[in-house]
Amino acid sequence: MAVTFNTIPDEYRIATDEDLKARILARKAELGDQLVVLTHHYQRREIVALGDYAGDSYALSKIASQQDAEYIVFCGVHFMAESAEILSQPHQKVYLPNPLAGCPMADMAQIGNVLYAWDALNKAVPDSKIIPISYMNSTADLKAFCGENDGAVCTSSNAEKAFKWAFERGEKIFFFPDEHLGTNTANTLGIPKDQIAIWDYKDRKLGGNGVADLQRARVILWKGYCHVHTTFRTEYIEKMRREIPDIKIIVHPECPEDVVQAADASGSTKFIVDYVTNAPAGSSIAIGTEINLVDRLAHTFNDKKIYELSGNTCAMCVNMYRTTLNDLAWCLENLDSIQPITIPDDIVRNARIALSRMLEIQG
Ligand code: 13P
Ligand code: SF4
Repeated sequence: MAVTFNTIPDEYRIATDEDLKARILARKAELGDQLVVLTHHYQRREIVALGDYAGDSYALSKIASQQDAEYIVFCGVHFMAESAEILSQPHQKVYLPNPLAGCPMADMAQIGNVLYAWDALNKAVPDSKIIPISYMNSTADLKAFCGENDGAVCTSSNAEKAFKWAFERGEKIFFFPDEHLGTNTANTLGIPKDQIAIWDYKDRKLGGNGVADLQRARVILWKGYCHVHTTFRTEYIEKMRREIPDIKIIVHPECPEDVVQAADASGSTKFIVDYVTNAPAGSSIAIGTEINLVDRLAHTFNDKKIYELSGNTCAMCVNMYRTTLNDLAWCLENLDSIQPITIPDDIVRNARIALSRMLEIQG
């Protein structure tokens, strides 16, 4: 059974936040260069404050690949820690402080369904070279599948470059698992609508397509989505513009196409952080992304007016929110007895090919 908040020893459950922070800092000081703590931008503010690096999934995977520390503690979700493990060196161990922190979107592309779709698609369009590209938000075996089949991994910060890279190598792209990032990237590249097909993995034939649709398509998108970023609506944008006429709206490209098109700008988590950092004092900015990042930006840049772009919903990634001070203290004080991330060697080998291509594409 995975050790979670409910099962970590009582001493970590009942400790005060101040005590937990002191213990985390003491353990970090004790381990020095042997330890690095990575925190994704969507983590709770108190977790980010205790990390050595904060970043988006691309930046953190790059930082992880450049580390020499024996212990890499990744405060994020499962696919991020897995990616760090794939890129790590043999002497390193990667830990996810709360093992229940997953990504529902990554789980929408199970390898069995992907292999079925790959076979059916290649039979439907046997004369086309298809390049599989997987978003970073995916399981290790899907990344390995891409590595094995001349494909690559991308993040929201290099999806466009990855699509261009793929079109230099094949006629069609099969993109997993986020339909919306795929649609928004295809739109940026000017790919006409009739050359974009959606593969509904619940349909056991051709993902809901006819052979002619797939022959015409240059981009085939897995029908997965992020339940956080698909809560945003164009009505919220219209309302914000009515209430605050000089507001700028920026959103993450996991948002639906109409929201991205109605916004002033769209980009990765890093893009959003840079946009807010570089905006002049006094600017009004509404952000369509995970609430903990918006909250931290509002707190950090209190000379700017930062709003969350939400209607009646709260765009929180509960999986990112799972990691608490209790988990981090427990993890750091028990590194030699708790289970690090483990991935079978053949999956690591092929997934590393796809992730290394991602790092090369980004430059
Ligand atoms: P980034 O790649 O921008 O870090 O985003 C990861 C993610 O999970 C977005 O929902
Ligand atoms: Fe997954 Fe969405 Fe959470 Fe990102 S915000 S980790 S895509 S569920």
